[in-house]
Amino acid sequence: MNAPIGVIDSGVGGLTVVRELRNYLPNEPIIYIGDDARCPYGPRPAEEVLRFTMDMVNSLAQMGIKMLVIACNTATAIALEEVRKQFDFPVVGVIEPGARAAINASRTDEIAVLGTEGTVKSKAYDLAIQALKPEAKVHSLACPEFVPIVENGEYRTQAARDIVNRTLLPLHNYPFDSVILGCTHYPLLQEHIEAHFSNQKNVISSAAETVIDVERILEAKQLLSISAEEPIFYTTGSMEKFQVIVEDWLAIPQADVRKLTL
Ligand code: SIN
Repeated sequence: MNAPIGVIDSGVGGLTVVRELRNYLPNEPIIYIGDDARCPYGPRPAEEVLRFTMDMVNSLAQMGIKMLVIACNTATAIALEEVRKQFDFPVVGVIEPGARAAINASRTDEIAVLGTEGTVKSKAYDLAIQALKPEAKVHSLACPEFVPIVENGEYRTQAARDIVNRTLLPLHNYPFDSVILGCTHYPLLQEHIEAHFSNQKNVISSAAETVIDVERILEAKQLLSISAEEPIFYTTGSMEKFQVIVEDWLAIPQADVRKLTL
């Protein structure tokens, strides 16, 4: 019951899910792995994303976790079913919760999805949205420049704003009312994305909805923790860069950031 929840991502994007976990389930201990050294996953072939995801899950399984959140859309799109097959602990991805939140928010049933090339190619959001609402229309856009700017810690800069404005132009032809941030890195750019659409669209991050699923599962299995320690963060990349983003995004001073080799 007091074992940690494991959270994995290709880099720092899954911290957006950790932020919601800490808000809604403050007693839950968390172990996070960010595979920053091999980020981005979005442009990689599916077999590679599957192998890298398994590397992270195997590490967490050895550390001992009570459940897993795949806080990476690309890894969820490609590896969720395989991870569920191979491990006994409950596994939650971020795509189905994001699709559900968008359906709930949309009045027009026209939804834009921003994602990596891998996520867009997988059509995982189209399938998840249409499974919930067959008449919904989905407009997907790959945003390959978003993840590198977040990983470099430059998400608050004018350069980030310019990239967002340039990338989102093709969506202007469509009458959608809701936009899914279909990559957990993108909430760090949310301010620019909202401004680009003049604050006229529902901008959906799957993080909060994912945490609702986590709570439901832990409650059903009577696995909710009573008291938490501070999270432990492992990165395969630069500990210094990771630390700066953890402190900025999660407001944890001197967070416990450790190096991991996969
Ligand atoms: C990436 O590694 O390309 C982004 C991760 C994600 O899809 O959430």
